[in-house]
Amino acid sequence: MKGAIVQCLGDLAKGSFGNDKWEESLEKAGMSRKSFFMPLQNVEDEKVLKLIDSLCKVANITPAQAADAFGDYWVNIYAPKIYGMYFKGPTSARELIKKMDSVHATVTANMENAHPPRFEYDWKDDKTLIMKYKSQRGLIDILVGLIKGVGKYYKEEIKVSKIGSDKVQIIFSK
Ligand code: HEM
Repeated sequence: MKGAIVQCLGDLAKGSFGNDKWEESLEKAGMSRKSFFMPLQNVEDEKVLKLIDSLCKVANITPAQAADAFGDYWVNIYAPKIYGMYFKGPTSARELIKKMDSVHATVTANMENAHPPRFEYDWKDDKTLIMKYKSQRGLIDILVGLIKGVGKYYKEEIKVSKIGSDKVQIIFSK
């Protein structure tokens, strides 16, 4: 997984729980306490998953709480800073989410070793979207957290529910 994900997780963890807890999580996951991550570097998926698990234990939060906190931080703080251009066009949660399949394909097209998640969109009615998640990583809870973050970014009440290991239902308010 790209270092951007781990850098974002670290910024969030340091800000919410303190430097010590972040360093403790790194150590618990078998990494150096002084590990430093750059957006384009590759970090093995297994290490990232272990790190998330360690952070949950050290900070005493559940995986779902971690996923929601990560999704909120990525969409509202981290991504607008380093990937601001993708937020310029869309004016609603619906528009940004509809672009996510192509954004992931484009943003990773020239990144070595990227395996971006891909999405398929199936509209049940004009407000209800079934989003199919295609990734080997099984991070559906993080997907849910990210979608909730998009709702917050556009100040919209959207209802997000997991309806299987690879599908999420989103009900938009507009
Ligand atoms: C415009 C902002 C965004 C950018 C630039 C972006 C870019 C990226 C990048 C570079 C990765 C790492 C891919 C890899 O290492 O192979 C990633 C992972 C991921 N992104 Fe985004 N992303 C954005 C917003 C979102 C949103 C809003 C969602 C959900 C609707 C989302 C869903 C995911 C998921 C679930 C992963 C984890 C990897 C996986 O499940 O395989 N992203 N994204």
